Amino acid sequence: MNQTYLTLNNGAKIPQFGMGVFTVPEGEETKRACLMALKIGYRHIDTAHAYQNERSVGAAVRESGISREEIWITSKLWPSEYGEGKTMSGIEKMLERLDVGYIDLLLLHQQVGDYMGAWRDMEKAVAQGKVRSIGLSNFESERLEEVCEAAAIKPSALQVECHPYYQQNELKKRLAPYGTVIESWYPIGHGDQGLINEPIFTELAKKYGKTNVQIILRWHIQVGNVIFPKSTNPQHIKDNFNIFDFELSDEEMKKIAALDNGKRFYNATLEEQERNFSGWTPAD
Ligand SMILES: NC(=O)c1ccc[n+]([C@@H]2O[C@H](COP(=O)([O-])OP(=O)(O)OC[C@H]3O[C@@H](n4cnc5c(N)ncnc54)[C@H](OP(=O)(O)O)[C@@H]3O)[C@@H](O)[C@H]2O)c1
Repeated sequence: MNQTYLTLNNGAKIPQFGMGVFTVPEGEETKRACLMALKIGYRHIDTAHAYQNERSVGAAVRESGISREEIWITSKLWPSEYGEGKTMSGIEKMLERLDVGYIDLLLLHQQVGDYMGAWRDMEKAVAQGKVRSIGLSNFESERLEEVCEAAAIKPSALQVECHPYYQQNELKKRLAPYGTVIESWYPIGHGDQGLINEPIFTELAKKYGKTNVQIILRWHIQVGNVIFPKSTNPQHIKDNFNIFDFELSDEEMKKIAALDNGKRFYNATLEEQERNFSGWTPAD
């Protein structure tokens, strides 16, 4: 079975599975993990200005020898670069850091600051061919509808915390009018052992000859989420991709749906997000 792609609301085809590099240090570690993933068959990498490792992601993509058009690169703008005019220069700097020609998907990382001005610049960047698709990250307040309603280009993706304990079914209903897909961050709960060791995953792992993590990742694929689990462990990088040769039944999907209990690992209020994300500027 081959890896799967989703068609976004602008017609672009995004690989549904990729690798996230949050917390992976710039330099050899990021480059090595990305190169290993690309060699195995990954075609999607999720980074951000705030992760401070875009240069290493770009270096891995260039060194991989894989054609640029085959690889999907997502990055995210930090609020310090939001604002009409300012965001365009933030995008130019991001293109220099990545050095991969264009950005497949550019997201606003946080729902604070002048996100409306930033969105207008992102739309211009699409028209100029610098960016192919645009979307949001962490917009779960009414600011989501504020952007979606005003946007000339509706967000193609919304990246939020999403895993079997917090399945985001209400948010999916809010996104339906715009055709926006959910990208799950913390797809395996940031490695939370309580989540990974839920008995239903152990039972299904035994049945399919897979690991508990592979069962969780497969569930995401079947509910239509885009995922990019983070790993720097070679065995995990390999295992995480090995989820396209089996299928969970409807009944098994229902049992996993029943784990949805509202538990989030990140719980900041909008006011806390305003405070936490407005005062920091990532290095260029
Ligand atoms: N937009 C946002 O605000 C936001 C926020 C958070 C994350 N993200 C994105 O989402 C990506 C994923 O989130 P995340 O990295 O925080 O959490 P995650 O992917 O849910 O979990 C990563 C953790 O799980 C471990 N792991 C990975 N594969 C495993 C396996 N097969 N078996 C056991 N453990 C495994 C990793 O350790 P090893 O390295 O040792 O394998 C790491 O400790 C990020 O890298 C980033 O791209 C976005």
